Amino acid sequence: VHKITNLATRIPVTALIMDRNTFGYKLRRASQAPTKIIPYFRRLWRNRNIRKTSHGFLDFYGKVIDEIAKDSPSLAIGASNEDTWESVGQLQFDFLSQHGLKQTDHLLELGCGNLRAGWRFINYLAPYHYTGIDISGRVLCSALDTLVKHNLQSKHPLLYVTDTCACDFLPEEHYDVVHAHSVYSHLPIELINQSLEAVYRIVKPGGFFDFTFLPTENAPYSFCDEDFYYPGDCLLAACEKAGFSAAIMPDWKYNQLKIRAKKLGKQ
Ligand SMILES: C[S@@+](CC[C@H](N)C(=O)[O-])C[C@H]1O[C@@H](n2cnc3c(N)ncnc32)[C@H](O)[C@@H]1O
Repeated sequence: VHKITNLATRIPVTALIMDRNTFGYKLRRASQAPTKIIPYFRRLWRNRNIRKTSHGFLDFYGKVIDEIAKDSPSLAIGASNEDTWESVGQLQFDFLSQHGLKQTDHLLELGCGNLRAGWRFINYLAPYHYTGIDISGRVLCSALDTLVKHNLQSKHPLLYVTDTCACDFLPEEHYDVVHAHSVYSHLPIELINQSLEAVYRIVKPGGFFDFTFLPTENAPYSFCDEDFYYPGDCLLAACEKAGFSAAIMPDWKYNQLKIRAKKLGKQ
């Protein structure tokens, strides 16, 4: 009931939360979307080849994103057209600015992509107060184009490419807010655990970390090693283990759910 009352309203509950590991689910998906069967096998083949030259998951996934970004950086971050790119960026900005982000805050965006939300945060915050990190060099080059397009050079955002979840190059207890949209939906649980520990170190006491995830029932599920689905309770437990106090945010309306993980203490 907890999960159902917290679901995005635009998508029927049953379409979001179900046990995706069952054979029945996979058969139903294939029959509902027969045109996706060939692209699915192409994706498996591409990933199999990329995996052969990769060292660990993040290296593999960074190369997958880089590969897609050769043709379209926006597609690589999941936006199939300009309208989606704009609207999902706006949605993230509106939500966070209405749920605690202040103009004086220091914000870290984990998996910032090509700044579809990031350029709005950069515009809103004081100079040097935005940091964006990503594992894809190509996507970050496209982020620089977004900066230029919106004339935001004087805001001096800090943009870093990384190949780990450690965030060890970032200062301790520096960020008021950390934001990750559609990033943990692409990571296995071991890396989510590492990332949560890293975020806990760099967020200020009294600060918070918002991240979205793809929900599923019962057991975690992964699709093509690119999309990872988790039961909400599994991620809430991971947050608690890293030291946060966490809850699903009831008024986030999108096809992923959002958790706010708070680092308790004075700000
Ligand atoms: C689906 S895209 C979303 C991008 C951005 N958050 C947005 O909403 O536009 C996920 C992004 O996260 C990046 N990414 C995935 N895992 C990451 C990690 N562990 N650290 C930093 N970036 C990561 C990917 O390269 C990709 O650009």
